[in-house]
This record gives sequence, C-alpha cells and structure tokens, in this order.
Amino acid sequence: MSRKHSHTDSVIGIDIGGTGIKGGIVRLKDGEMVGERYRIDTPQPSTPQAVATVVKAIVDELMTREHAPADDAPVGITFPAIISHGVARSAANVDKSWIDADVDKIFGDELGRDVQVMNDADAAGLAEARYGAGEGVKGTVLVITLGTGIGSAFIHDGRLIPNAELGHLEIDGFDAESKASASARERDNLSWDEYAVRLQRYFEHVEFLFSPELFIIGGGISKRSQDYLPLLKLRTKIVPAQLQNNAGIVGGALQAAVHFKITK
Ligand code: BGC
Repeated sequence: MSRKHSHTDSVIGIDIGGTGIKGGIVRLKDGEMVGERYRIDTPQPSTPQAVATVVKAIVDELMTREHAPADDAPVGITFPAIISHGVARSAANVDKSWIDADVDKIFGDELGRDVQVMNDADAAGLAEARYGAGEGVKGTVLVITLGTGIGSAFIHDGRLIPNAELGHLEIDGFDAESKASASARERDNLSWDEYAVRLQRYFEHVEFLFSPELFIIGGGISKRSQDYLPLLKLRTKIVPAQLQNNAGIVGGALQAAVHFKITK
C-alpha cells in the first residue's frame, strides 16, 4: 500500500549487508548524508524477522535526530540479493529463507511506512553514477562492490540496468566471489599482493566480457584502494567509489525518493 507523504527534505537509507546493517539520513538536494551513520551487526541467522527487527531499530534511532525526515517519509532499503518487483530471488550471503520472500512487504509491515527495496550494489552504483566517480561518464560503467560477497551495478549512460550478478561469474571453476571478495581475502589471510592476483584475474575477465569505460570499486575496502589498485594491470580505468561505503545508503534513499516522487 502506498501512502500520501508530507513534504520532506531528507530520506532514510538502510544498507543491508551480509555482515552489517547501516543506516543514514540523506539530504535530497545534494545526496549528502547528514550526521553519522548508524550500524548494527547483521543478526545470525539472518532470518527475515531478525533482520526486520534490526532495520526497525536503526530507523527508530535515526528518527530521534535533529535532521530526521518527516514521520511518514518512505525509507529506501538495499538488500544483498536479486530483487525483482520487491521480491528476493536469491540469497548468497543471507539466510536462505529470504528466497522468494516479499522483502518490500516484510519491511513495510515492520516499519509501518512505505519502503522501496533494491539490490545493494545497484543502489551503490546509482549513487556513484549520480554523485560520485561515475558522474557524467558516457557508455558502460561497472560498479563492483567488494565486501562479504561481490556485488555489481551495470550503468549505461547514467542509467542502471538492474540485477547484474557479476559476483557469481564462474572463473577457473569457482564462483568468483568465493575467491575475490573482501571476506575471501580475510578468510584466506591474503596479503594485498596476493589478493591483487585474484582481483586481476577477476577484473580482466569482466573487462573482456563487457569492455566498460570505467570500473568503480565500492564496499568497505574501497578506502584501502591504494593497497591493491596500483597492482592491477587493466585497459580500463579503475577508481575507488567516491562515496566509499556510504554509497548504498545514499543510492537506496535516492531511489525511494524518486519512486515515491518526493525528489527535490
Ligand atoms: C549477491 C548480490 C549482492 C552482493 C553484494 C552477492 O552474493 O548475489 O545480489 O549484491 O553479494 O552484497
């Protein structure tokens, strides 16, 4: 059910990952996050009810702040799975009971507000294309997030082609994210040099398949990009996300604003 919304200058964005759930207040006029983000560990097991409870706790905290949006403003939520018409169609790094769950309804019911749910990497990609490293870039931009898994956003001429799952390309017999995600680096105790070898194999394959104009690296380790980006040899320019790990929060909030027509 979609409600009528009063005027608001900001929207809450919540970014659900396999490891943490983060939220922030996003100012609509320039996509800036106002104030600190608020983070709670992803509950284990990450069942729908457990995750919804954490999302509610984050929204409740953000709503106590000075720059909180209107009480009835919609909330943008990103989810680490294929999201088709508000329904999850995969669950690589969250509890398998999410598969075929109506994510939109689960969070909408818990929050008592309109919500707009989208894939986490797609949200990060949209934010980067609009306000970050991809701003104004023509042609294909691939935003690849390196976190618990590998997420991807396929942007062409500033428009998102949703639900590209390039973290699950099979390379050398392995699901790519099982070898090249940030969590695989930690799990296997890799030095940056060793990790860069895996990233090189991954990115050269994606480059061969799509010949993008630009790669943008998102996720928590985008802030450590100096440790591995200089080691990669690619034809394509590759840069860290400008919004770093807040891109998902910003993209999710902006998409909710567009969807519910409350953009500035
Ligand atoms: C999921 C994607 C998600 C990515 C990053 C992958 O395992 O399949 O949907 O975007 O992890 O969270």
